[in-house]
Amino acid sequence: MALQYTYSTHALPSPRTTKSLPPDFPSLARRYEALRLEALLTSPSAFASTHAIERKFTPEEWADKIWRDDAVVLVCVAHPAAESNQTPGAAPTLDGQWAGSAILRGPMPAHEYALPPDSGAPPCGSDDTETKWQMTAVFASAAHRGRGLGKLLIQAGKDYALAQSPGLVSQRPASVRLRVLIHPDNMAILSLYSASGFVDVARTTGQEAYRTNGDLSSWELKLQSLTDEMKVYWKTAKVAVVMEWLGEVE
Ligand SMILES: CC(C)(COP(=O)(O)OP(=O)(O)OC[C@H]1O[C@@H](n2cnc3c(N)ncnc32)[C@H](O)[C@@H]1OP(=O)(O)O)[C@@H](O)C(=O)NCCC(=O)NCCS
Repeated sequence: MALQYTYSTHALPSPRTTKSLPPDFPSLARRYEALRLEALLTSPSAFASTHAIERKFTPEEWADKIWRDDAVVLVCVAHPAAESNQTPGAAPTLDGQWAGSAILRGPMPAHEYALPPDSGAPPCGSDDTETKWQMTAVFASAAHRGRGLGKLLIQAGKDYALAQSPGLVSQRPASVRLRVLIHPDNMAILSLYSASGFVDVARTTGQEAYRTNGDLSSWELKLQSLTDEMKVYWKTAKVAVVMEWLGEVE
């Protein structure tokens, strides 16, 4: 019989929420490294970077992928139901099998978030009235797919963005604008974001997808690997599907 699990999601420590590096940070970075390398190995077409590049990262580079000002790493932890050591009612912890992850960039200033006008993207609000975020690199380990991890990670992104947003404007609730840029062939991820309330709002180029995902170093490597014809395609063809979700802080 297949093992039963319960799942919890967590935002890894980042400078926005934690004053200094927690003592267990090197161990967290090693666990994230293992999950990320699994993602790059098993779903090579889904990500901007590659296993060949990231398997050479040093422990310091892995730490920098988590401890950063511009983004937070979200993980989903699987807890075997039969082996749960947790006290009933206690909050789930990072102990357990790391089975999924995602990266949430933001809050991004309007000038960085904006897409070129010909993308058809709707105008966004000013930074005084809303925070702007972009989700990227959602991954569920193959053994745990189809059990709602993708949805849980997206919900964790929404919750984190909402929690970071109140107080922007006194007397009024702030809004959250959360976006994802998707390759149109990735039906699973298109369905996943639709099922999570995201709406198709625009089309943009592969280059813009790399830029707004914060993957500029991967973009330089990508360019080197392309023929001149494909370079033009990635810079001009509007193939990335832009999906957006708007939320209000209660
Ligand atoms: C995409 C991915 C994260 C989905 O994870 P998951 O935990 O299996 O997804 P969920 O169980 O939360 O599925 C939620 C919804 O997503 C959609 N979905 C998930 N997998 C799907 C698939 N293979 N085909 C079509 N729709 C799919 C469905 O709408 C599903 O809702 P339903 O279960 O009510 O039908 C996972 O398949 C994955 O890691 N893929 C490889 C990495 C990748 O492509 N990442 C995207 C980078 S941009």
